[in-house]
Amino acid sequence: MRPPLITFEGIDGSGKTTQMGRLSERLKALGRPFMTTREPGATDIGRQIRQILLDPKNRAMRPDVELLLYMADRIQHLEEQIRPALEKGQLVLCDRYHDATLAYQGGGRGLDLGWLKPLEAKLVKPLRTYFIRIDPEESRSRLDRRNRDQGMDNCRLEEEDLAFFRAVDRGYQQLALAEPKRFCIIDGLGELEAIECLIWNDLEPRLEAL
Ligand code: TYD
Repeated sequence: MRPPLITFEGIDGSGKTTQMGRLSERLKALGRPFMTTREPGATDIGRQIRQILLDPKNRAMRPDVELLLYMADRIQHLEEQIRPALEKGQLVLCDRYHDATLAYQGGGRGLDLGWLKPLEAKLVKPLRTYFIRIDPEESRSRLDRRNRDQGMDNCRLEEEDLAFFRAVDRGYQQLALAEPKRFCIIDGLGELEAIECLIWNDLEPRLEAL
């Protein structure tokens, strides 16, 4: 049985963070031990890496350096927080994980990720991955609205153009097609309640079987 790591993926603005919050509430009500976390930036070291990654001033960052920083954040996070929680029998919900690197740095940046294989072998594989899918155009308008409402600037990756987000979206779709047993693709344009129920109805029987 795979350890119960559950991940949420999707392009920016897909609503995955909201859905992870709703799932947490349901797990809390059930009294099930779990932890929620996210990438990048869950650990002290990760928060520093996150700042470098998302700072819009860092325009000079090379794509391969970006890739290595996301991997560095992940390995610190996995060994410091995720693996110990799983070993204690906790369920771990993670907002973005390795599929984000495959979709953003592989799909979006077009990097060849073949040489990551030995590192990937050390990662914990998620039991289930919820890929909340919205069109890249919808993502753009949600991000612009969110940042305007909150008076925030785009982070470095949010400044990328539509073609980048289309490539990321294609990356996620290919990953989901390649591993249909792990991925659950969800239409992110649906009502929040409907998406919440869909995720719960999919996950609950799997948790019972653990
Ligand atoms: P964040 O503000 O956490 O975005 P969100 O709330 O949408 O998850 O910023 C994370 C950004 O980093 C996001 O644009 C996606 C990107 N990212 C990668 O490019 N590769 C990765 O491996 C991960 C984990 C995130």
